[in-house]
Amino acid sequence: MAYAHVTGWGMAVPEKVMTNDDLAKIVETNDAWIRERTGIAERRIAAKGQTTASLATEAAINALRVAKLPPNELDLIIVATSSPEHLFPSTASLVQDRIGADHAGAFDLSAACTGFIYALSMASQSIRAGAIKSALIIGSETLSRLVNWNDRTTCILFGDGAGAFVLQASENPGGVLSSVLRSDGSGGDLLNIPAGGSAKPASQATIDAGQHFIHMNGNEVFRFATRVMAAASKEAMDKANLNVEDVALIVPHQANLRIIQAAARGLKLPMERFMVNIDRYGNTSTASIPIAVCEAVEEGLLTRGDNSVLVGFGAGLTWGSLALQWTGPFEQAEPIRMRRYTRFAWLRSLMRRIWRRIEGLFWGRRG
Ligand code: UT7
Repeated sequence: MAYAHVTGWGMAVPEKVMTNDDLAKIVETNDAWIRERTGIAERRIAAKGQTTASLATEAAINALRVAKLPPNELDLIIVATSSPEHLFPSTASLVQDRIGADHAGAFDLSAACTGFIYALSMASQSIRAGAIKSALIIGSETLSRLVNWNDRTTCILFGDGAGAFVLQASENPGGVLSSVLRSDGSGGDLLNIPAGGSAKPASQATIDAGQHFIHMNGNEVFRFATRVMAAASKEAMDKANLNVEDVALIVPHQANLRIIQAAARGLKLPMERFMVNIDRYGNTSTASIPIAVCEAVEEGLLTRGDNSVLVGFGAGLTWGSLALQWTGPFEQAEPIRMRRYTRFAWLRSLMRRIWRRIEGLFWGRRG
């Protein structure tokens, strides 16, 4: 049976930094409150023209470069996102076109901030079952477009960014060892965007009521998160036959430093065993775990052979965890020139659009 290894990883964050002091000029808040209550010092904000798909594409290109895997060898692309480019088409299909992954299926996955863990679990199980050989998993967000910049209880929390993993099949043991996925829809109203879907289509009234923005009961979400993080981490370890001592690093969803500290207490582990970068990016929802993993690898906190646990929670309510043995790129892989692939993908996409126009002219006349 094949194992699903993480052979590539990459991230992309906008250049624009918004500090707590910048926020204090927009809403009634201050740097001391935000740092103390959340651990956030600054976050990144997408520039005009930068979107969930463009950040996802940038992170994907970086991950494929590390894995040395040509995009046309990908079998599957999953984009986990809470701020998709559109209701449809999927952001994943847009990424597929931009990187030229012309043999891949592509879809978006909606499980809010737990989405990256859900996507990783789904893709790794497809690899384990022998249905596919490789997958690109992306978490990407431009939540700055969905927050109410007049609501100090939410706008201080979120940031923009993307992170991606390449998963590949190998007969060597390792990679994704176990996963735990959970949901409790009875808490759906605690964190949501009330309008803009089929239940409440966008209208002047929904816009006037601000129902197209993120709404959250922060205290309830906080209590839920502190309850599930340690338990879910432990469950993933148990399923993978790992003890806490076997795990080099826990990479939690970066939503609030106090939630991460509660998880550390729950697992009786020191904070040094937890990856934390919320101070620099805030809560980037589905992107927070892969971005944190990229930085952990960069800082040497996660190296080949290390066991790690990824754990997250979010709207739904959803939560999940995953035990992982870190691999790195396959040794036999040859470096690839991603720019060549993306240029060719751009040209192919253009030719297909032109050809569709020409075909349409002929069929249009006949019809
Ligand atoms: O990916 C999942 C997404 N969501 C989460 O993870 C959110 C989980 N929840 C949280 O992180 C925390 O509940 C928050 C950071 C949202 C709020 O922190 P808190 O410690 O639970 O504060 P609170 O809501 O209990 O508010 C305490 C006080 C209130 O004032 P009063 O009523 O005590 O006078 C708020 O009005 O702090 C006030 N407050 C603020 N003050 C300055 C709330 N937001 C702010 C703010 N700046 N931005």
